[in-house]
Amino acid sequence: MKNYLKHDEWCIIEEGFHREYNEITESVCSLGNGRMGQRGNFEETFTGKTLQGNYVAGVYYPDKTRVGWWKNGYPEYFAKVLNAANWIGIKVEIEDEILDLNTCEVNDFTRVLNMKDGYLERSFTATLKSGKQVRVNSKRINSIVDDESGVIRYSITPINFDGKIVLTPFIDGDIKNKDANYDEKFWEEIQKETAFAEGYIELKTKKTGFHVLTGQRFEIFQNGKSVDFQGFPIKAEKFVASQVTLNVTANEETVLVKYACNLSSENHHVDDLLLKSKAYLKRIAAKGFDKMVAEQAEKWASKWEMNDIMIEGDVAAQQGIRFNIFQMNQTYTGEDARLNIGPKGFTGEKYGGSTYWDTEAYCIPFYLATADQQVSRNLLVYRWKQLGKAIENAQKLGFKDGAALYPMVTMNGEECHNEWEITFEEIHRNGAIAYAIYDYVNYTGDKKYLAEYGFEVLLGIARFWAQRVNWSEAKKQYVMLGVTGPNEYENNVNNNFYTNYFAVWCLKYVIEATEYIKSTDEARFNELATITNFDETNEFGKFQHIIENMYFPASEELGVYLQQDGFLDKELIQVKDLPAAERPINQKWSWDRILRSCFIKQADVLQGMYFFEDDFDLATIKRNYDFYEPMTVHESSLSPCVHSILAAKLGDKARSYEFYNRAARLDLDDYNNDTEDGCHITSMAGTWMSLVKGFGGMRVRDEKAYFSPFVPENWASFSFKVRFGGNLLNIKTTSDEVIIENLAGGDTSIFLYGEEQVLAEKSTLTVEQKDAVAV
Ligand code: BGC
Repeated sequence: MKNYLKHDEWCIIEEGFHREYNEITESVCSLGNGRMGQRGNFEETFTGKTLQGNYVAGVYYPDKTRVGWWKNGYPEYFAKVLNAANWIGIKVEIEDEILDLNTCEVNDFTRVLNMKDGYLERSFTATLKSGKQVRVNSKRINSIVDDESGVIRYSITPINFDGKIVLTPFIDGDIKNKDANYDEKFWEEIQKETAFAEGYIELKTKKTGFHVLTGQRFEIFQNGKSVDFQGFPIKAEKFVASQVTLNVTANEETVLVKYACNLSSENHHVDDLLLKSKAYLKRIAAKGFDKMVAEQAEKWASKWEMNDIMIEGDVAAQQGIRFNIFQMNQTYTGEDARLNIGPKGFTGEKYGGSTYWDTEAYCIPFYLATADQQVSRNLLVYRWKQLGKAIENAQKLGFKDGAALYPMVTMNGEECHNEWEITFEEIHRNGAIAYAIYDYVNYTGDKKYLAEYGFEVLLGIARFWAQRVNWSEAKKQYVMLGVTGPNEYENNVNNNFYTNYFAVWCLKYVIEATEYIKSTDEARFNELATITNFDETNEFGKFQHIIENMYFPASEELGVYLQQDGFLDKELIQVKDLPAAERPINQKWSWDRILRSCFIKQADVLQGMYFFEDDFDLATIKRNYDFYEPMTVHESSLSPCVHSILAAKLGDKARSYEFYNRAARLDLDDYNNDTEDGCHITSMAGTWMSLVKGFGGMRVRDEKAYFSPFVPENWASFSFKVRFGGNLLNIKTTSDEVIIENLAGGDTSIFLYGEEQVLAEKSTLTVEQKDAVAV
């Protein structure tokens, strides 16, 4: 755990240059707008530890699979969102010496990510080897208003000399992914153009053929006045620049304003990219830096208005939750139904920017409560569109008759993860995808979704489960063999409780959804039955038999469900007894040792109890929690939030808070020693869940919202906003009272501590705080 970023309610602040942590700070200071994003890299040359990262949403490459021993059924490729042209670059030369914070003395350094207004700012004084000193300030945004662009204001002031500086704003398209399987470059150059103060480069991805045109246009000011300069255009392979030599005087500021855009063939016709880029840059340059920054702040203000969470009395926690909300909003806006949410968003390359079960299990609840209903709907429809590929994927593994296995990792519906224990066995993802449909319908009341899109997905998934289980003569029950549960520290296990439970739930839910569709829209049901070749009597007959006869491993003696068959044969030791030097075990232990140990990477049985809490009594949840949590190492970022919610439900406020904090500050404090790979974007939605579902006790049942909030000990109060049933509610909890405001959307009613309360529009209800647990 690191503690070098300053605590502040709205900003992430690095004071003093922490060279050794630079890649972590770059991840944390990433900017994004749903269409493009980049890490908090420096504009000028930096030869130290860095991962230069620029990403354009939807632009990926199917990197050929790398495995030691090929197995039938392996996906041919591992898709990755490509590290794209670097548009922020500005080379700075001071009398022939390159400004590089790795080689000069750096003083008064600050790097600040301002989450309120959505910009990144950096200031420092550099003393070069020659003894020349300059003061630099750079500020940039990745515009959420003009979402294919960014703008930088780069200011440089000589402190102790008069002389010449050379500024070379550039676009470098000769970029490689750090995680390329064969060290290959994925971009080809199509065209480039330079002018005095402009430059354009069009690149195309190999194989997938996406075109991205990155353009720059810049202006220079000295002492506040525009400078009439002659830029010297430079072209090299996949590289364009314009070099400007300027006379500078001590203590006089030179400012370069660089506008840049990334236009992709996903959004524009290929033939138009160059012309459109020119027009785009002309338009934003006419707007100007100040206006773009002001518009950015305004748009962020409207976002915060809808989904800010305020915590009084704990600055670190306040910063943590805002950081999570900020990054979620930077990653996915829901405006483009073709896009999804990579576990690292635009902050790094790990996980290839692909779609995981994280979207359904963690992100959908966040967007359901904080964004327009359409956003979650788009995420669901994304999977519906990929149903054909999920059916093909299942066929490749030998399933038939419309059984669908959604991929664990995907860009376009095809599976592209290449570890067998994940691709073939971590099939629980199918459950989360079905559950998200339930979650959406339950939260929004949009039951029509079931007939429109939901049914086909649910049926495909249910068919898969029905074929994936088999009848065990020995047990006289159905079993499911050879799976990997959410706990990836175990592979190829039999009867993973979580997976078995989810399978049965899916079978029940498709039956329930079908009944609803039949009773409300028979014509559509008949249509769907034809499309899916559905034989209700036989198929549901089989589903029902499985529902009634599924095997769930359990220990009667301990009163717990077993994570899988044979779990109790393990040596059951606790995480607290592991020497600190041996953690995280995924970095310190051999894989063999991990697999044989009892240590759990992330919630598994408990993940099931989180999803289906109403199926279990509190005592059962507690026994399972007390049994499994001590063996859980939480080495997946997706783990602490689920435990936080369960601990809250069990009334263990201190633990709930501890898990929450770990989730909320996971990247800011680099808990898992891996933030340099990128931030844990999808787990940030989990942080939000632990606050809203954990401390706020929010649940939705039968189209009603329930709240049972308590305040963690260290906080004076907290408040969160949720959209529910067309209303916008603000729920503030102090140690004495709960104040609920119905901000918009008409009169409504909610349940608070189990009692129904009517809330007229624009009214406020104040009730005594009861320190209760979620009901
Ligand atoms: C977790 C998976 C998760 C993936 C991406 C892995 O470490 O075990 O559950 O889907 O990260 O976040």
